[in-house]
Amino acid sequence: MKMWKGRFTKDTDKEVNAFNASISFDQRLYSQDIKGSIAHAKMLGKQNIIPPSEAEMITKTLEDIHEDIEKGKIEFDIEAEDIHMNIEKLLIQRIGTVGKKVHTGRSRNDQVALDLRLYITDEIQELFALVTDLLGIIIKISEEHMGTYLPCYTHLQKAQPTTLAHHLMAYFEMFKRDYERLEDNLKRTKIMPLGSGALASTTYPLDRQFVADSLDFQALTLNSMDAVSDRDFALETLFSCSVMMMHMSRLCEELIIWNTDEFQYIQLDDAFSTGSSIMPQKKNPDIPELIRGKTGRVYGDLMALLTTMKALPLAYNKDMQEDKEALFDALDTTKACISVLTKLLETSSFKKDNMLKGLKSGFCNATDAADYLVKKGVSFRDAHEIIGKTVLYCMENEKNIEDLTVDELTQLSSYFEDDLYNYITIDACINGRNIIGGPAINTMKTVINNHKKWLYNSDVNSM
Ligand code: ARG
Repeated sequence: MKMWKGRFTKDTDKEVNAFNASISFDQRLYSQDIKGSIAHAKMLGKQNIIPPSEAEMITKTLEDIHEDIEKGKIEFDIEAEDIHMNIEKLLIQRIGTVGKKVHTGRSRNDQVALDLRLYITDEIQELFALVTDLLGIIIKISEEHMGTYLPCYTHLQKAQPTTLAHHLMAYFEMFKRDYERLEDNLKRTKIMPLGSGALASTTYPLDRQFVADSLDFQALTLNSMDAVSDRDFALETLFSCSVMMMHMSRLCEELIIWNTDEFQYIQLDDAFSTGSSIMPQKKNPDIPELIRGKTGRVYGDLMALLTTMKALPLAYNKDMQEDKEALFDALDTTKACISVLTKLLETSSFKKDNMLKGLKSGFCNATDAADYLVKKGVSFRDAHEIIGKTVLYCMENEKNIEDLTVDELTQLSSYFEDDLYNYITIDACINGRNIIGGPAINTMKTVINNHKKWLYNSDVNSM
């Protein structure tokens, strides 16, 4: 039996029932829905809109329903459409007329907005914990590899020498920004919409601030029409998940490349790799590939909700019921990816010797050789030209710059002297780059220590 049956003369078509219902997917909002209803009922009692004793009875029964759902004792009813009406139905089944009072001064439109805001708040807390673990592993590996040298690339062509710590800490910066983006999302999520009613608020003397305080919201929505039709907060979270996925996909792409036979910079743990059904020798990086692949799916979730919201007139429209599956999918996917990526990194071994070997070719110290000439008084543009010719000479003679004799060097430029060799060692190239942002060991230590303070001491983690 429908709760809104009053003005209807026919039963709902069976197919329409199934088509219209959201209970199959919005049942995961049960905790938030019950929490919200309890706060609402307590407020109704406090304001004497319903008798305080009845508010207590509603609260107590909602707590029992919560427990029964957790224990798997409840079977939801598609006839009751969504989680909001399913829980109201259970309440009425248990306490009759008193249960029928819980929806006083409330609409499913402000109720679902509340539930979603509570849900996203909870999910962001989970994301904080997962990103914190990922950041912790990146720090741990980086601290071990401040002296592990490898080439860094532009255009996937060897460019300059750096350290594994410097390379991985680039991802730390990205994931830290992702964390901060979520903190920012929270600010606009923790705003309390109850009291907006269906769209034009209510004539009951609701105490909205009381509800906000009991649910730990930081502010009240200030326009009831906006409050029931705003899904920006969900879109922002989807965007944050998308950016985080994009960052993970870039790291995963590098792990896949580093794991190739051509590179052999890392070895993925057997427990985090998979085999081939036909080629017995294969050990494939399916896990980072899947994270890369799932990135597209999370972008799809963001696009789906953006498109659903496009051009919707004020205020609530049923289109908005489509917000949930995209949001749930993006959050589930992002959380699973962060978790497995953290373990994948934790269990991978980094092949220092092969990384160092990578620097034996590709003229990664060419910029430093040009800078050497600048120190000797040559303009940078002329130095660039001289080193370009030097590299060409080296390629023809199958040598590195540091292998050239002083005679060969002075033929290329009279500014070369035998102090060049010390200037262009890998050590010199890396530890010379000791300005903030660079890979020199001392600089990395400072940057890593600052990040550790943020990660482990800051109270933003307990937000
Ligand atoms: N299940 C609905 C949703 O998720 C709840 C709000 C329904 N409101 C309405 N007036 N039909 O959007």
